[in-house]
Amino acid sequence: MSGGYLLHGGDYNPEQWLDMPEVLETDIVRFREAKINTVTLGVFSWAKLEPREGEYSFAWLEQIIDRLYENGIGVILATPSGARPHWLADRYPEVLRVNASRQRMVFGGRHNHCLTSPAYREKVRQIDTRLAERFGHHPAVQMWHISNEFSGDCHCPLCQEAFRGWLKKRYQTIEALNESWCTTFWSHTYDSFEQVESPSPIGERSIMGLELDWKRFVSDQTIDFMEQEIRALRSAGSDKPVTTNLMYRFLQVDYFKLAKKIDLVSWDNYPAWQRHTLEETAQRTAFWHDVMRSLKKAPFLMIESSPGATNWQGVSKLKRPGMLRATSFQSIAHGSDGAMYFQMRKSRGAEEKFHGAVLDHYDGNDTRTFGDVCETGEMLEKISAVTGAKTCAQAAVLYDWENIWAMEGSAGPRNEGLHYQESVEKSYRALRRLGLNVDILDQSSDLGGYRLISAPMQYLFHPGFAQKVRSYVAGGGTFVMSYWSGVVDESDRCFLGGTPHDLMDVFGLRSEEIDGLYDWEENEICQPGKTCAGLGESYSCKYLCQIVKPAAAKTLMVYGKDFYAGTPALLENQYGKGTAYYVCADAEQAFYEDLYRKLAGDIGLCCPAPGGLPEGVELTSRETADRIFYFAQNFSEKEAVLSLPKGEILYGKNSDVLKPLENLVLVVKK
Ligand code: GLA
Ligand code: ZN
Repeated sequence: MSGGYLLHGGDYNPEQWLDMPEVLETDIVRFREAKINTVTLGVFSWAKLEPREGEYSFAWLEQIIDRLYENGIGVILATPSGARPHWLADRYPEVLRVNASRQRMVFGGRHNHCLTSPAYREKVRQIDTRLAERFGHHPAVQMWHISNEFSGDCHCPLCQEAFRGWLKKRYQTIEALNESWCTTFWSHTYDSFEQVESPSPIGERSIMGLELDWKRFVSDQTIDFMEQEIRALRSAGSDKPVTTNLMYRFLQVDYFKLAKKIDLVSWDNYPAWQRHTLEETAQRTAFWHDVMRSLKKAPFLMIESSPGATNWQGVSKLKRPGMLRATSFQSIAHGSDGAMYFQMRKSRGAEEKFHGAVLDHYDGNDTRTFGDVCETGEMLEKISAVTGAKTCAQAAVLYDWENIWAMEGSAGPRNEGLHYQESVEKSYRALRRLGLNVDILDQSSDLGGYRLISAPMQYLFHPGFAQKVRSYVAGGGTFVMSYWSGVVDESDRCFLGGTPHDLMDVFGLRSEEIDGLYDWEENEICQPGKTCAGLGESYSCKYLCQIVKPAAAKTLMVYGKDFYAGTPALLENQYGKGTAYYVCADAEQAFYEDLYRKLAGDIGLCCPAPGGLPEGVELTSRETADRIFYFAQNFSEKEAVLSLPKGEILYGKNSDVLKPLENLVLVVKK
């Protein structure tokens, strides 16, 4: 995404207004006023693009693209496969999804087609091909937006067949499948691949290997569907970059795998501001921006966000003054090359008529939201020098899709909630409180180049992962792993001979038991006599407590209560040139903040703000060959006093004081 400017715009649905051309005229005027430079077209236009099978009607779209282009506005053109026209479902009922209880859906909704169906794939291929032929070389078209928010699974006979084919490829023989899935248990042994059915509430739910492989298959099948769309565009001669819009905390599709198949990662960001504290929401959002950037270790695009309230969250909260700018700014700070919205104009009726938009049912430019959008447009122009700048991180947090699938599907130490996401966010937040850029990695990622890696709850180890951790630590890295790690292999089969599998010498310990705590129970992690500098005397811990047998590891802290009081709760082990830490329990936030401050200090990772960051202030940086851009934002409810590196102000006030929701960009020459 070069060209030296940040994208500003969003999803635009002119097909809903074709009978009111004056509305479309007003849109262009308003877009120019708000410094809109890009819109996404065609996401849900299939019925207008192909009103009857094989009858394409593209003239209206061409006129709109031309008019936008004449007005200096570029286009991200979508393939329309996110929702299909009625005729398609009527003519080819196989495109309708079947749910896990084996019921076929009727027409309605969106994102609900069978991604295996040859009929659906063919109809999509045909329209994608025609779109690419007609618009693939249009100078306004900058990028392809493949489908929309890929999600869900289908259990129809076609998908069952495809699943069996996928399994045959993976296991070759039914004996190998039986062995991996441990099917001797409850006599569920398969005699042939033909007997395998996807997991179902009316059928098999007890084989975790099946559950895990089904999730892998659904993810692979979704990616395969997306790839066939990309192939259609390429075969029709378009070489424009492709993206697809990803989602917050969406775990059905392995985004690390998907990202390898697209040119640019983009995602839809809808934080529920004011549901929790500003800081909490900002940190959770920041985590997902960092996931998106890390998927390709490259700038991404926040392709959707709401200019005002959403209309699908429990409570449709208005964005208070400054919040839209802060949301957009935060995305850029974490690596987005633009700030885009859903939607440019509110629909007249149906489900999204009350969803926030740049333009509402009243057409004027004197709305509060329109004012906010204009301010954001101005801000993006002022900071456009950051376009394309990279984020360099020396710290990382591991977040692996397959590990999450396995851990959450496995009947284990706490079926009332493992609180995995929370534990990841605690470590992430602790590192971010130090002003460090943080990459998010999965187990397939290269660990080289990081100084400090946090790996909460790595229950499943991919083949080769343990070896990677071993080399990383041996080579001088600092690696922090926590309880419930290295327990099962890629089929959810328990490792034999002690855990964390293949890393007991690296951590200098063996995990022996894990205690699940009721919601109301607490234990504590403490150091009587405070022998370890930088860590407090005691912290509370909840949910899960791993009991370990130390070997070479040094015990830094112990449990304070229960029958395992006095046994290790935090351990440190030198291995090769590096150090491995094992955190045995789900401790409170303060523990992680102290621990990571101490570890960062030990290895000389410093906060770029001399004196550290006040509570609620986010600091990130992006770099070009000769400059570093520092982004500071105050997500607390009070003024924050901040000392930043010396540099030139690119955006914001030249002052040490940041008001709530105030943003600042500082440039330092390298
Ligand atoms: C998603 C979809 C959009 C729209 C918005 C509403 O992100 O991609 O089409 O429905 O949600 O917030
Ligand atoms: Zn299907």
